[in-house]
Amino acid sequence: MIRKLYYGDNAKIMPKHVTTETIDLVYLDPPFNSDADYNLLFKEDGLSPDEAQMHAFKDTWIWDTAAAEAYLDIQNLDNDRLIELINALKTAFGQTPMMAYLVHMALRLSMIHKTLKATGSLYLHCDPKASHYLKMILDTIFGPTMFRSEIIWRRTGAHNKTQRWAPIHDVILFYTKSDTYTWNRPKQPYMAGHVKEHFKPDGKGGWRTDYYGNVLTGSGTRTGLSGKPWKGIDPTPKGRHWAIPGEIWTEVGVDPEGMNQHQKLDLLFDLGFIKIDPKAAWPMYEMAVRPGQGPAMSDIWAFQPYTEGTVFGSRAGIDSDVRWLPTRDQERLGYPTQKPLGLLARIIAASSNKGDLVMDPFCGCGSTVEAAETLERQWIGIDISPFAIQLIRRRRIEGAFPHLRFGIDYQVDGLPTSMTGAKALAAQDKKAFEVWAVAAIDGLPSGKKSADGGIDGKLKFKPDGKIAKHAVVSVKGGILKADDIRSLIAVADREKASSLGFGVLVCLNPPTAKMRADATGAGVVEVAGAKYQKVQFFTVEDILAGKRPRLPFPEMPDVFKKAEKATAPGLDV
Ligand SMILES: C[S@@+](CC[C@H](N)C(=O)[O-])C[C@H]1O[C@@H](n2cnc3c(N)ncnc32)[C@H](O)[C@@H]1O
Repeated sequence: MIRKLYYGDNAKIMPKHVTTETIDLVYLDPPFNSDADYNLLFKEDGLSPDEAQMHAFKDTWIWDTAAAEAYLDIQNLDNDRLIELINALKTAFGQTPMMAYLVHMALRLSMIHKTLKATGSLYLHCDPKASHYLKMILDTIFGPTMFRSEIIWRRTGAHNKTQRWAPIHDVILFYTKSDTYTWNRPKQPYMAGHVKEHFKPDGKGGWRTDYYGNVLTGSGTRTGLSGKPWKGIDPTPKGRHWAIPGEIWTEVGVDPEGMNQHQKLDLLFDLGFIKIDPKAAWPMYEMAVRPGQGPAMSDIWAFQPYTEGTVFGSRAGIDSDVRWLPTRDQERLGYPTQKPLGLLARIIAASSNKGDLVMDPFCGCGSTVEAAETLERQWIGIDISPFAIQLIRRRRIEGAFPHLRFGIDYQVDGLPTSMTGAKALAAQDKKAFEVWAVAAIDGLPSGKKSADGGIDGKLKFKPDGKIAKHAVVSVKGGILKADDIRSLIAVADREKASSLGFGVLVCLNPPTAKMRADATGAGVVEVAGAKYQKVQFFTVEDILAGKRPRLPFPEMPDVFKKAEKATAPGLDV
């Protein structure tokens, strides 16, 4: 089983780690081209929203060196149509944020295309601001005939826009790599009103309807196959021919495209919808309706609140399995663009089978990972935020699937598991190292790009068992200076109302004896008769050994608290 999380830029990870033509299904939900930063807003008791903000990912696209490099990389791709399109768009838009976004996406989408199996599918989740450009890019990479659907997903209940229609939908573009692809024919349930109107109770708790005789034929004779006998019944002498109304296919939930009339009749017969009664003049089209049966699922996925009871065979409302996540939803982890498990479950169930390999190269807080694991698929998740990867580990894997063993059943690549890895991360990306170090000791990293007044994160504890307090954490990836310890004492004292004076210095390199003496000199805090050192050193070796700073009654931040196994609608397996 492949279960793998990668920390890093997917444009670097995919060519290096994902083998060509191995993926069955890709879902991606890249950051949109809005000019706002998305910040994580954790609902932490004891922290004001400002303090609790955590920069999750930057959603501002500017034409910088990375965009210029992506543009050049595209010029070297073996896809003339894509190069032409990108050059034309660049002529039209210039070096704008939109163009920066499009070159980033074009490069990554062509890499994703390579990773897909010939039978693979792709779902690109985007918004109406960019979906039309992304569709053109996908048409050049996959081929226009490989476009299958544009799904409209209702992402919220309402939006307060007064000068235009309230924007409440996202767009999900569905492409396949070839004409042969996994498609498990998803169905949507009948509306209860439809069943009442078109079916009648069968007296056994079910509903059935009978369309007798000429429902399967049309008037007039034909010389082709539709005029020829089927199962010994000849329509021509009766002045008719075989003709199956389109609505039958909608009711049955099957697409008969490419079949001739006899094959269509055979299919309906095999599915049990046609009865042949020697006493009847014509074969009978007969249908009993059962919950779970219904027409083919449409491309509009829009939960409708307060429609409970209107869906046949269910107490849920319309599309409640793909309901957006309200602010206080139990499923919420605090990740700003978190998508519901039900949405991912619908996609994964329709376009892959048990054991298939699903990849999400912008996996965020891991909705795809959890849905894939629940539906018994293999999975790969990639994200450029170390916090996202740590969050998935804690909440999605350790929380929801505790039997999965780290390093044995699932792997995490790119985040330190040794001193060498920690040193490499600190040298390569200082901020990523800090975020990793704070999250690794169950702290909440600061959202700010540079240390927030000397604070890189906070550690929650409840000295009286009721009110949350937060020790300040400072992370040092380089050489420790004597000043570092003095600054930390000053910051912890400044924050005393919330920190009780506790400060933790997480360091890559061990402190000197003098530094330790300075820390001890800062004194102790007494809580419930026990003494705790106010200022504590914590080395990366301690982190790797699974140790935690010593605080009175430490608590996990809410965002890391153990999640129950998923119970989202659509994930009942
Ligand atoms: C819209 S969020 C995805 C949310 C996700 N669908 C979920 O349900 O949690 C986009 C994610 O893409 C990640 N990201 C942005 N650029 C990336 C890149 N170049 N490589 C990998 N991940 C990236 C961000 O860190 C962010 O977590």
